[in-house]
Amino acid sequence: MLKFKSNIILAPLAGFTDCAFRKLCYDCGAGLTVTEMVSAKGLHYKNENTKYLLKTAGEAPISAQIFGNDPDIMAEACCSEALKPFDGIDINMGCPVPKIVKNFEGSALLNDINLAEKIISKCAKSTSKPISVKFRIGFRADEDICVEFAKMCEGAGAQFITIHGRTREQFYSGNARYDSIIKASEQVKIPVFANGNIKTIEDYDFLVKQNNVFGVAIGRGALGNPNIFRELNGLTPIDKSTLIAQHYKYLKENFDEHYIQTNFKKHLCYYIDGTAHAKSTRNLIFTSQNIEQAINFALEAINAQS
Ligand SMILES: Cc1cc2nc3c(=O)[nH]c(=O)nc-3n(C[C@H](O)[C@H](O)[C@H](O)COP(=O)(O)O)c2cc1C
Repeated sequence: MLKFKSNIILAPLAGFTDCAFRKLCYDCGAGLTVTEMVSAKGLHYKNENTKYLLKTAGEAPISAQIFGNDPDIMAEACCSEALKPFDGIDINMGCPVPKIVKNFEGSALLNDINLAEKIISKCAKSTSKPISVKFRIGFRADEDICVEFAKMCEGAGAQFITIHGRTREQFYSGNARYDSIIKASEQVKIPVFANGNIKTIEDYDFLVKQNNVFGVAIGRGALGNPNIFRELNGLTPIDKSTLIAQHYKYLKENFDEHYIQTNFKKHLCYYIDGTAHAKSTRNLIFTSQNIEQAINFALEAINAQS
């Protein structure tokens, strides 16, 4: 089993949760972080881009997330050199993106519980690393197969699960069904992390303290706000300018200038959320010539607020 640093973990967010952001989230108290999803087929064909997505910077514990639908290729991925540095492997059964679903990957696997089971059990048997699964409560808007799917994951050898309380058809909006997650967590012995719109200590208390869910996975609530891990862990928040400086330092230690330009501007736009004139500041950030200038625009907006 993975040794979680806390029961508040960072959910994978493609395009955002690279090793720099993950390190920052650990600094703030995240219990586990996960890479964005990488294709098991991409690993099979030794795709260069896959290597980039799997870049780590010594952060721990760390899981790699894989997606695919072929049990053999998924199991092969689990044993691959590329995944050697990881403490655990997470299987994506929740991605709603049409391109993925059309290939019968990600959330499409919710429509074939037998195939999903085969994938998990083959992966679990292929490696001594802990296997976990992240899935949604169902595919169609009104569907709720959460309990059945959670039990299947446990039986197939998953050591913990993360449940996004929305269906595939909901994509990323609408309410997350915490009641379904709670029911599932009552029916399995493995740790369950609740996911979907968790943003406050009240959400955390409701799920974990009042309803005994093992933990929570924070996605968009951590963007521009890694302090959420401090708040939920009962620690005092760090001021945003310090967080931005630390985030930039981790980026510089790990990535080239081109990557930092595109990636950090997106993050800066989240850091300035809630400041006055956020919309015009976002424009300034995106059109700025270099990243230092973009950082200054963000800091000006933040300092004017405090
Ligand atoms: C931009 C973006 C990228 C995402 N990438 C992934 C991914 O690579 N793997 C995955 O399992 N979920 C991914 N998700 C889903 C999140 O992990 C999470 O389940 C979802 O955003 C709900 O949690 P939240 O309401 O706290 O954001 C992504 C979500 C967003 C918005």
